[in-house]
Amino acid sequence: MGRLFLVPILLVFGSILSDPSYVEANIVKSMYINWGSQNSAIGPGSDNLQLILDQSSGSGAQSKRQFLFGSVEMLIKLVPGNSAGTVTAYYLSSKGDRHDEIDFEFLGNVSGQPYIIHTNIYTQGVGSREQQFHPWFDPTNGYHNYTIHWNPTEVVWYVDSLPIRVFRNYASEGIGYPNEQGMRVYTSIWDADNWATRGGLVKIDWTCAPFRAGFQSFRPRACKWNGQVSITQCAAQTAANWWTSPAYSQLSYSKLGQMTWVRDNYMIYDYCKDYKRFNGQVPPECSKPQF
Ligand SMILES: *[C@@H]1O[C@H](CO)[C@@H](O)[C@H](O)[C@H]1NC(C)=O
Ligand SMILES: *[C@@H]1O[C@H](CO)[C@@H](O)[C@H](O)[C@H]1NC(C)=O
Repeated sequence: MGRLFLVPILLVFGSILSDPSYVEANIVKSMYINWGSQNSAIGPGSDNLQLILDQSSGSGAQSKRQFLFGSVEMLIKLVPGNSAGTVTAYYLSSKGDRHDEIDFEFLGNVSGQPYIIHTNIYTQGVGSREQQFHPWFDPTNGYHNYTIHWNPTEVVWYVDSLPIRVFRNYASEGIGYPNEQGMRVYTSIWDADNWATRGGLVKIDWTCAPFRAGFQSFRPRACKWNGQVSITQCAAQTAANWWTSPAYSQLSYSKLGQMTWVRDNYMIYDYCKDYKRFNGQVPPECSKPQF
C-alpha cells in the first residue's frame, strides 16, 4: 500500500523540483526587509507584506534571489485616500553603475484623484525611458496584479493581465537591452514629494500618515541567476525555459488589441513623443517597431 502511494508523490515532487521556474507564492520565504523594518509588517499569513511610510521612515523589501528572464508577479494594494507625494515602487534591478532596471512606480495623488502608473527601463545604466498611465480601476480598493515579463526578445509590463508597454530587444543595433545581468526584485514605499505629485508642487499631508501599501502573492517564475553562466543558460531555447518559446517572442493579436486600448485611453506620458526634452532627438528605439 505505502509504496503504491509513494511512487506518484515522488513523481510529482520530482517534476516540480526539476522545473527551474517553479516557485510557490510565498513572500516571506522569497523576500526580506532591507529598509525600515520597524515600518513593515508581515501577515496575515506568510504571503502578505505591508510596507508603511510615516514621518520617521519608509520601508522596503528585496528578493533573496536574482533572476534573468521569466515572469515576476506581485499583487499590490496601493495607499488609499490622500496619497499625494508618496511613491510605492515595485521593480527589478541589478547593481552597479551600468545597471539594468525594469520599473513599476505608483505616484500617489490627493484623495479621489487618479494615481499615476509610472514605468521605466534602464539598460547598462541608461534610463530616461518613462511611460506613464492612469489606472482604469481603483488601485486602492483591493489587490491588483502587476507583472513584469521579460525574455531575450522583449520586456512586457502587465497590469491585471493587460499588457501596457513593450520594450523590444534591439541590442544588435546598439540599443541597450537587459540580458546580461541578474536582477533582484524590490518593493518599497517612500517620500517623493519633491517630484511625485505634479512635479513636487503637492506635498505629503502627514496628518494622513501612516501610509500603507500591501503586497502579496509574489511569484517569480523566472530563471535563477547563478553568475555569468546564466547569460547563455537562461536564454537557451529549452522546454524548461518556457519564456523562450516562440509564443512569448511577440504579443498575440488579442493582447496587442488590449494594449492598444490601454495606450489609447490611459497613457498620459511617452518619452518617445517628448521631442522637447530630447532636443528633437528621441532615443533610437523610438523609431523602431515598438511592439
Ligand atoms: C498575473 O498576471 C500574469 C500576466 O498576465 C498572469 O500570468 C498571472 O497568472 C496573473 N496572476 C494572478 C494571480 O492573477
Ligand atoms: C492628480 O489628479 C489630478 C486630477 O485628476 C490630475 O490633474 C493630476 O495630474 C494628478 N496628479 C498626479 C501626480 O497623478
